[in-house]
Amino acid sequence: MNPVYEKLMKCYKSVKEKIDFQPEIALVLGSGLGDYGDSIDVVATLDYHDIEGFPVSTVSGHKGRFVFGYVNNVPVVCMQGRVHYYEGYPITDVVLPTRLMKLMGAKVLFLTNAAGGVNYDFAPGDFMLIKDHIMNFVPSPLIGQNIDELGVRFPDMSDVYKKDLQQVIRDTAKETGIKLQEGVYIQLTGPNFETPSEVKMCRILGADAAGMSTAAEAVAANHMGMQVCGISCISNMCSGMQEQPLSHEEVKETTDRVAVQFKELITASIVNIHKHLNK
Ligand code: HPA
Repeated sequence: MNPVYEKLMKCYKSVKEKIDFQPEIALVLGSGLGDYGDSIDVVATLDYHDIEGFPVSTVSGHKGRFVFGYVNNVPVVCMQGRVHYYEGYPITDVVLPTRLMKLMGAKVLFLTNAAGGVNYDFAPGDFMLIKDHIMNFVPSPLIGQNIDELGVRFPDMSDVYKKDLQQVIRDTAKETGIKLQEGVYIQLTGPNFETPSEVKMCRILGADAAGMSTAAEAVAANHMGMQVCGISCISNMCSGMQEQPLSHEEVKETTDRVAVQFKELITASIVNIHKHLNK
């Protein structure tokens, strides 16, 4: 068996032995946004450490566990802490949790992250609906022998961040009175932030926000036929666009400042996505 698939199935078996819960929506919480887990009616939690073979995150501010439960009666699985490529894991490990959540039954992957603003119209604390992505020197998680059990060799990528889900989130932001920017997310490897010249490159390439996650997960989810959507929290303006040097502390400060609004937007979006899927 393909070793990547074998590892995935081993983790799946390990989860199945411990948890009997079928999520509809899989939610990934970005840097500093992990507290959202507290607004879930928790049925069970599962530490990544307790899943045999699971890649465990090492970044401070990232808890490492799945939370299973309900957001206003919608069954969700939520990742408090994700695995990043810059931690040194192979890209197939980075997307293993995403694949696992699809196997658990999730139809939708709702991605969130903290990102740097590349677009001059953005400000720290803004939210950005992800309309599309660019991967910059981050390898595709689909490289290697195709896992036919998961999806096709050459998956279409013309509608990864589903247009109907984009509209649901857009409508939700209006309904809740939360300002929502829109744009293209670019994933760079990190862990260093970009140079001002790299930020200029990102802008020329068509990116509006830059980060170190999300796009690879979206590729793996799309491969498996999940419906993907995502929101970035603009935690800072990218380097060269603000006076002070960037730090992870600044990212956390901003995400803390907007945590209440973030919770409101995510909860209302989940409820509306559920309604949209079941109408
Ligand atoms: N660049 C890349 N990733 C990030 C940033 C940034 O400025 N802020 C938060 N994640």
